[in-house]
Amino acid sequence: MEVTSFIVMDILERAKELEAQGVDVVHMEVGEPDFPTPPEVIEAGVKSLHDRLTSYTQSVGIPELREAIAGYYWDQYRLEIEPDRIILTPGSSPALLAAIGIVTEGERVCGLPDPGYPCYKNMLRFLGGRFVPLPVEEETGFKVLSHQLEGIGALVLNSPANPTGAVYGRRELEALVEEAQRRGVALVSDEIYHGITYEEPAPSVLEFSQDAIVVNGFSKFFLMTGWRLGWLVVPRGMVRLVQSIAQNLFICPPAAAQYAALACFREEVLSQFREKVEIYRKRRDFIVGALNDMGLEVGIMPRGAFYVYAKASRFTRDSFTFAKRALEEAYVGITPGVDFGDNKTHLYVRFSYANTLERLGEGMGRLKEWLGTLI
Ligand SMILES: Cc1ncc(COP(=O)(O)O)c(C=O)c1O
Repeated sequence: MEVTSFIVMDILERAKELEAQGVDVVHMEVGEPDFPTPPEVIEAGVKSLHDRLTSYTQSVGIPELREAIAGYYWDQYRLEIEPDRIILTPGSSPALLAAIGIVTEGERVCGLPDPGYPCYKNMLRFLGGRFVPLPVEEETGFKVLSHQLEGIGALVLNSPANPTGAVYGRRELEALVEEAQRRGVALVSDEIYHGITYEEPAPSVLEFSQDAIVVNGFSKFFLMTGWRLGWLVVPRGMVRLVQSIAQNLFICPPAAAQYAALACFREEVLSQFREKVEIYRKRRDFIVGALNDMGLEVGIMPRGAFYVYAKASRFTRDSFTFAKRALEEAYVGITPGVDFGDNKTHLYVRFSYANTLERLGEGMGRLKEWLGTLI
């Protein structure tokens, strides 16, 4: 089976090896918030354990949490989503696997943004599905354009996007969704970075279509990566199918994680998540300035998520070797563009700014010095 390794995980593992030898590595490869889960959320999870709520839950998740998420759609987007269309999963990754499996049934070819999140194509390989890369270009904001929907049967959209930080505006997204509907292209919208935006909030595909499958979860904005909890919003006619998939493939999402997640929607906890976005913003502004100064060009200001996708073409035509050397020689972990596809990815590297300003400063200093030795 041709499932490729997730290069960022390989880089992280090598960084851990170096650290075990006593080397101080600055991490800018990790796609994970550097903030712990808020105490209120941890306490709610711990309480559920003390209350012995340790059995399987409903396969689609506990009703209270599905209702809380429905309430969140109203608060965030003014969307009325019936709670029974919300299906909780053990992380958004299984949600994606299920969604991609459904929309590519019957040999439908799936379009994937290139560069884009690498797991989509590996999920498709695992599922035996077919996909085509849809090149997204810096000049057009790293976004999929309507004409690219020709010849595909399904599409995975991701906004805010990993690795580029691109966020589709309301009009752009609406036009793309309309075009997908016109052409009968089934949509999966990976909205895992919603909430982490620096200009306007990212619109949800659900604002324009109830036929799309939306994937979201508690890993990024809600700071709960290790708890493993995600969700799907599915069209009404798909509820029963997705419930059967959940029963057979996942049994149920982790119980403690679900009880913990209920606390995420308290106002005092939501405000903690929002504060983190302001911290990311400061880091983004700092790192974009520092990268441009040293010739790692950031053409477009990322508007969401916590990544900067920078052009390293002044220094390399091989982003993989560049990232490996940055780790081995400057002790800075970054992710090569080639992890994200084939479209000019040999010229780009991704920086995650899910790290403190102090460590980012240290990393930028090391990289600048190291780049000086390359010229
Ligand atoms: C675009 C995108 N989708 C999905 C995921 C998976 O997140 P989860 O932890 O919910 O499985 C990630 C994680 O990095 C991601 O970047």
